[in-house]
Amino acid sequence: MNITVIGTGYVGLVCGSCLADLGHKVTCIDISISKIRALQEGKIPFFEPGLEEKIKKGVLNHKLNFTNSYKIGCKNNIFFLCLDTPSLKSGAADLSKVFSAVDSIIENISSDSIVINKSTVPLGTTKKIEKKFLKAKDYIIDVCSNPEFLREGTAIKDFMDPERIIIGSQSESVIRTMKKIYHPINKKRNKKIFMSVESAELTKYAANCFLATKISFMNEISILAETHGGNIHEIREGIGSDSRIGSSFLYAGLGFGGSCFPKDLKALIYEQKKLNLKPGLVENTLQINQRQLEVFYKKIAHFYKNQLSQTNLFIWGLSFKPNTDDIRESVAIKLIKKLSPKVNSLTLYDPLAIANSKKALSNLSNVKFTRNQYLNFHKANGLIICTETKDYADPIISELQKLKDKVIFDGRNILDKNKIEANNILYQGIGI
Ligand code: UGA
Repeated sequence: MNITVIGTGYVGLVCGSCLADLGHKVTCIDISISKIRALQEGKIPFFEPGLEEKIKKGVLNHKLNFTNSYKIGCKNNIFFLCLDTPSLKSGAADLSKVFSAVDSIIENISSDSIVINKSTVPLGTTKKIEKKFLKAKDYIIDVCSNPEFLREGTAIKDFMDPERIIIGSQSESVIRTMKKIYHPINKKRNKKIFMSVESAELTKYAANCFLATKISFMNEISILAETHGGNIHEIREGIGSDSRIGSSFLYAGLGFGGSCFPKDLKALIYEQKKLNLKPGLVENTLQINQRQLEVFYKKIAHFYKNQLSQTNLFIWGLSFKPNTDDIRESVAIKLIKKLSPKVNSLTLYDPLAIANSKKALSNLSNVKFTRNQYLNFHKANGLIICTETKDYADPIISELQKLKDKVIFDGRNILDKNKIEANNILYQGIGI
């Protein structure tokens, strides 16, 4: 099938290259000239495991191409909208890119078409898009909602082997086309769930808000555990073994970041307020997440008391989670901004996110970056861990012992507390 994907961010590039891998002929459009030029030269704008290979394969097999031109993109009659919908100051989702893409399709469309919306949009947006398309009088344009559930770091796998594909449409012909598009994925199991457009839109928000709520719930319990001598690892195992609860997304820590959870929670709260509904759980989830950073910061400040200003700290992990160079809403970056004016120096290490962090922290004079995970540990007072990167779980103990104060603040509970303490290193985790 000939498909046009609009937007070459995370969702668009993963979606485009995977659709090409499934055998479709895909044109990816973006209005950014530099981005498209780079993609045409084989340069991928961010790190995502497996993405570069998929894109190169698609281009080599003539299944994938990139363009700025809607005229070219509109030769096809199946469109995926993969535009980002960042938070406005009010918390509302900014839909300007989505509607501007819709306008461009209207200007250039050349046949009856199907528009599949993958962007995360508030309830009712897909219907609004459909109304706009009524302006393209000469053609019939069906719009459906097909939210994405990709996680950064595992996005290719999530696309090629999804737990479910949500399709919001009442139209028989759209449903037929969607079945064809995803047919190669669906060979073994029936993973498609059909529903109304509104349910599909809300399913996306509900999924992200629920996952975020699980995290904040565990963070709330972690504070109780810590106060009463409990251990959050044991509690996670204890409740996670109940199949009604499930064991994933129960990791207490510094809280959630990234370009999705904070934005989607804010958008849902905004929608609730707009409808005069009282926000409850979701608003609390966000507040607990913000508080978690304060709790951790206080732990460090309390440990050093009036010595904090002379302290040199080493930090592992800058991205919002492992396996990505993405620092959007990264809790590590927020912590660094908070700590920097209070301490003598911060040395920052991350396997992937140094370049992006350098830009974000360029105004902090007492911050330096290193590609050596253990650089001059004897000059640092303590170590702070901010992401649950696997490599951090099994550190070189003899290096940790060089830390002046022999202390580790583990913001992701990734280290084995007993092992660390057995080596005479102080350990401060979360809820342990
Ligand atoms: C999230 C969802 O998991 C995807 O399903 C969704 O498609 C995506 O948002 C989106 O809306 O585009 P992502 O933002 O890539 O994916 O990251 P997650 O793996 O969900 O992690 C989010 C944050 O939660 C990270 O900062 C992570 O460190 C934190 N986290 C995760 C915890 O603190 N505890 C946990 O138990 C799990």
